[in-house]
Amino acid sequence: MATAASPLSTTTLGAANGTSLASPGIHPPVRSICCIGAGYVGGPTCSIIAARCPHIDVTIVDINPARIAAWNSDPDPLTGDLTGLPVFEPGLSDIVKECRGRNLFFSTDVDEAIRKADLVFVSVNTPTKKSGVGAGYAADLHYVESSTRRIAQVATSSKIIVEKSTVPCRTASSMRVILESNSRPGIHFDILSNPEFLAEGTAMRDLQAPDRVLIGSLDTESGQCAADRLSEVYENWVPAERIYMTGLWSSELSKLAANALLAQRISSINSLAAICESTGASIHEVAHACGLDRRIGPQFLQASVGFGGSCFQKDILNLVYLSESLGLTPVANYWKQVIEMNEWSKNRFAHKVVQTLFNTITGKKVAVLGFSFKDNTGDTRESPAITVCRFFRRELARVSIYDPKVPEAQIHADLVDREHDATGVVAPQGTNNVTVCSSALEACKDAEAVVVLSPWREFRCENLDWGHIYENMSKPAFVFDGRAMLDAEKLKKIGFKVHAVGTGPEKTDAWL
Ligand code: UDX
Ligand code: ADP
Repeated sequence: MATAASPLSTTTLGAANGTSLASPGIHPPVRSICCIGAGYVGGPTCSIIAARCPHIDVTIVDINPARIAAWNSDPDPLTGDLTGLPVFEPGLSDIVKECRGRNLFFSTDVDEAIRKADLVFVSVNTPTKKSGVGAGYAADLHYVESSTRRIAQVATSSKIIVEKSTVPCRTASSMRVILESNSRPGIHFDILSNPEFLAEGTAMRDLQAPDRVLIGSLDTESGQCAADRLSEVYENWVPAERIYMTGLWSSELSKLAANALLAQRISSINSLAAICESTGASIHEVAHACGLDRRIGPQFLQASVGFGGSCFQKDILNLVYLSESLGLTPVANYWKQVIEMNEWSKNRFAHKVVQTLFNTITGKKVAVLGFSFKDNTGDTRESPAITVCRFFRRELARVSIYDPKVPEAQIHADLVDREHDATGVVAPQGTNNVTVCSSALEACKDAEAVVVLSPWREFRCENLDWGHIYENMSKPAFVFDGRAMLDAEKLKKIGFKVHAVGTGPEKTDAWL
């Protein structure tokens, strides 16, 4: 990634080749928005903008026609819900139904939407690089680059360009160079950073009442004007005091920093959970005791099998790469440890299952409840369930999985064995010891153990008939609670042998 020594906040067509230098643009109020990328971030974010700003036309575009077709899919004839949307978020269907065709449009015509827009959100994927320089750590920016090139090539008027995707610090400077070098004479761009802090499952709530909206710009007249224009869009529903204007690079880094700090809390509590399991302390009590200190606070101290999701691991790896690139190896090592602790937590939990089931699960039926990386989402990216289920498969268990939202094909795709042939081609080898079930009761029937991996409410003791599950399992019947969310005492009364993350051994052991 380029790191310009003296980056400009604005680019004016012709500035790069010296033909013309138009005065910095004073942007008109935003009336038309294009969002490039109809994914988990772009879709919900721009749907809320459309709902709260009926005077603004919002067009969400994507190069993937299947994804756009899903966003445009018809309501379920019985319920009226838009069940075919490519992203499941509580509340999203209602918002899309309200706005679609009014001032919210989904299209594959990327060029036309860019041309019409006063402001373009770049909301494309930025996965971790799989090969080349920085493989395994750095963000793959080729989707950002190709959409930036597209903007430069097709824009016929000046625009505000907004980085929405999580990007490495100083990506705006690379975008500036691309825009400068490829756009038509007389056209002026300002680049802003406006990272998304929404969490899946609560995205609509997070978007409607955000803790803060961060807008990063450079300190030039047109950069400030662009930031003000974007702020005006949010001020249609966000109180002005929650909109925090920063420098461009601070805004880019803040997104990585916020995710790194959140993930660090989870790795910290999971490291303490391991101590609890060996001492008889309870992680619930320890977390509560620590969280009562206002400087620490109670959020994000829920011990678990490990964190997942598309952001935490990717963003920390990005931070590690940035630190290494800057020669800050101790900083890189510090953040790397958060990921290593997470990997260790997932493996520790999987080993505990095998160890408890008399050191073998070969041929045994293991029921897995929950496959998504958290509740209220069908997203499986970096889900701890993938690591744990792959471990069970390697141990030759028969794995039966139930998740309320993850489609069967996705579970198979995540667990499929792959074999590299001599040419390096990857061939799927199937998932024949994995069964995807349509209910928790079905998944648990005749199982030797139930392993809870995502914290869906429907798995709680008050919502699921655990007595019925017990009656239909092999004995002894084990429950492994990877989310420390079940009422262990109640389960023990039914007859289960229970292991929950962060609890045990029994309080009557040798420590007392
Ligand atoms: C995260 C950030 O919260 C959000 O601000 C950012 O924009 C994107 O990344 P998300 O990945 O959707 O959001 O989910 P989050 O609620 O943060 O949970 C991430 C993972 O940590 C999940 O697997 C969750 O189950 C786990 N988790 C969370 C814990 O194990 N314990 C906790 O206390 C909190
Ligand atoms: P996120 O979680 O960041 O929203 P997703 O993978 O869910 O990431 O969505 C990103 C979307 O961006 C994908 O649907 C992908 O097809 C789309 N996309 C990537 N590059 C481009 C591009 N150049 N033009 C339009 N859409 C793009």
